[in-house]
Amino acid sequence: MINGEKSMDAPLRWAMVGGGRGSQIGYIHRSAALRDHNFQLAAGAFDINPERGKEFGINLYVDPDRCYPDYQTMFEEETKREDGIQVVSIATPNGTHYEICKTALQAGLHVICEKPLCFNMEQANELEKLAQEKNRIIGITYGYSGHQAIEQGRQLIANGDLGDIRIVNMQFAHGFHSQAVEKYNQSTKWRVDPKVAGPSYVLGDLGTHPLYLSEVMLPEMKIRKLLCTRQSFVKKRAPLEDNAYTLMEYDNGAVGTVWSSCVNAGSMHGQKIRIVGSKASIEWWDEQPNQLRYEIQGKPVQILERGMDYLYPEALRDDRISGGHAEGLFEAWSNLYSRFAKAVDAADSEEPLENVWYPGIEAGIEGVRWVENCVRSADKGAVWVDYQ
Ligand SMILES: NC(=O)c1ccc[n+]([C@@H]2O[C@H](COP(=O)([O-])OP(=O)(O)OC[C@H]3O[C@@H](n4cnc5c(N)ncnc54)[C@H](O)[C@@H]3O)[C@@H](O)[C@H]2O)c1
Repeated sequence: MINGEKSMDAPLRWAMVGGGRGSQIGYIHRSAALRDHNFQLAAGAFDINPERGKEFGINLYVDPDRCYPDYQTMFEEETKREDGIQVVSIATPNGTHYEICKTALQAGLHVICEKPLCFNMEQANELEKLAQEKNRIIGITYGYSGHQAIEQGRQLIANGDLGDIRIVNMQFAHGFHSQAVEKYNQSTKWRVDPKVAGPSYVLGDLGTHPLYLSEVMLPEMKIRKLLCTRQSFVKKRAPLEDNAYTLMEYDNGAVGTVWSSCVNAGSMHGQKIRIVGSKASIEWWDEQPNQLRYEIQGKPVQILERGMDYLYPEALRDDRISGGHAEGLFEAWSNLYSRFAKAVDAADSEEPLENVWYPGIEAGIEGVRWVENCVRSADKGAVWVDYQ
């Protein structure tokens, strides 16, 4: 159970790049980081517009002198201070992540980066090498992985409750972009522009989320081959897709699918993962995140509720308010940020990080790799490709 008591000598001095007023994801980063007193918001370059960013930072009680016009100035000035920032979160559009991440690592900062980490494997490998050289962590905000039901699923699988894993069905298929909303919505506009969004839209923006859930719950299973087909139902989005199907074969003989879509009209979020084993299956849906379906062949379906004593202790460790009360995405993100803090603390004190997993650099790399392979397959005409 998390009580919000301190777990380190002092809160980490933390900054944000992006996540300014009106941004989609900025507020949840702050809510998650600040909730357990592990982080203290000390500085920021919150907005592409420096004046708006400064005014916004002041409204968050950040010292006006530490509300910077851009991230380069922030890293330069903060490294001169004795009480300079130690860790930075990057919540800007995709095309900026690589440069900001690299500059932050070079300035000796730990990084928490939005997905995708970058656009290609060359950049990803470079960031990994740099992080290793500098002994800095890179956390990736695959926020849904912080839900207790996901840890419960991970434990059920690890303990053999499902038997041999055969099938993994995943989807993240919402309907919010069924029409060309990018004409008036800035947050969607950059998502369909390859210069800013990268080589894909929904594969990277949506599909990588359930894919990471599968990596958390099935850490041993590796993709061997995949086939992807992608479409642009709103024609002007081409070459970027607004719908895609990916079919995968794993090295243990299991198979999987990912449906990534923003044109699933009428669907709110539609993120689901179903893992089928030889004895039982589990299913989780992010719109009902407190429940995990556990279906044993030949027995009545069980709905496992978050926060209940019958869960594995590892799943209860992240509980904040016991069973019954609803927890949601904000709590899942807080769980992740609290793990990021532990990882930073361990790296700084050069202690091993024991019994804590978090989406780190390898999660960022795997997301980039998966998108690259999907695009390669789709652009060859939806053919099977060996996973590289
Ligand atoms: N993990 C998740 O669940 C999740 C959910 C939504 C978005 N995202 C990711 O978060 C990132 C941001 O997405 P969003 O929807 O919040 O975007 P957005 O367009 O709503 O907001 C982007 C923010 O970044 C600022 N910004 C842009 N360039 C900047 C720069 N160079 N320096 C400082 N600030 C800058 C903008 O002013 C704005 O405040 C994207 O990479 C997206 O993929 C992740």
